[in-house]
Amino acid sequence: MEALVFDQVRENPTSRSVEEAASRLEEEKFDLIAAVGGGSAMDTAKAVNFLLTNGGRMEDYWGFGKATREMLPSIAVPTTAGTGSDAQSYALISQAETHRKMACGDPKARFRVVILDPALLATIPRRVAAATGMDALSHALESYVTPVRTPASASLSRRAFRLLEPVVEAAAQPPASTEVASRALLGAHLAGAAIEGSMLGAAHAAANALTASQDVAHGEAIGLMLPSVIRFNTTAVNALYGELWPDGAGAGLADRIEEIRRRTGLPTQLGAFGIEAPNLPSLAAAACDERTANFNPRPVDQNAFEEIYAGAL
Ligand SMILES: [Fe+2]
Repeated sequence: MEALVFDQVRENPTSRSVEEAASRLEEEKFDLIAAVGGGSAMDTAKAVNFLLTNGGRMEDYWGFGKATREMLPSIAVPTTAGTGSDAQSYALISQAETHRKMACGDPKARFRVVILDPALLATIPRRVAAATGMDALSHALESYVTPVRTPASASLSRRAFRLLEPVVEAAAQPPASTEVASRALLGAHLAGAAIEGSMLGAAHAAANALTASQDVAHGEAIGLMLPSVIRFNTTAVNALYGELWPDGAGAGLADRIEEIRRRTGLPTQLGAFGIEAPNLPSLAAAACDERTANFNPRPVDQNAFEEIYAGAL
């Protein structure tokens, strides 16, 4: 087969970066797309698939099922154990002007084949491994407690959590053993599949606002927000947290996430990014606008997000 390699993927792809990619590729004729890389590579591949086959701009596909024409079959080969984009029919693309994350989904955008090869994690940088591992863990935890969870999504979340939790620290010290890398990759994939059925919650809303305003890497932002969100949610879903973490339920789980964060060298305080108390109201307002805020098990508003951010100062 003849292959054309596109290696200009941007981290946190924007509508502009994927439209540029599509315009450079639109002269060619393709039979399929293979995405090799982390979440940004996989999301860019899905986004380019929309644009090459259905035309228009990325905004046209914001939402679900907006592609009217056939799309190209695609293969994913993830090289990080994190986003779970390999299991999802959504491309997450930031709107270039506003930095808002657009979730653009269609069943036809989903990868037909996913290859989870632990050898590909051998040379991952430590910082990336730590951040992506935290992200995957948060997908299992947030998807497990949303009000729209289903028996199927809950079973995926549970399996993902049990695969990931014991190995996230080891996976963040590459090169990890084949066993550790396999568990991390499969856990991240299953957690991504759980999101399809159940969405995410306030940790992703709060983290996305941090990424949009301070350019904090997604997994680092998640690590900052997740313990605070779990503690906030305990009044609503402590029993569910207890199913995953019998040792102290939500409170114990939040402690465990902080322990993982410390051991893997992830940032532990918003101050590391120059964020202080006066910045919280505007961050909270941005978090309220995030779609995943609607799926948190305990309703969140401006005050709630200020409290959640304050827990990470
Ligand atoms: Fe995430």
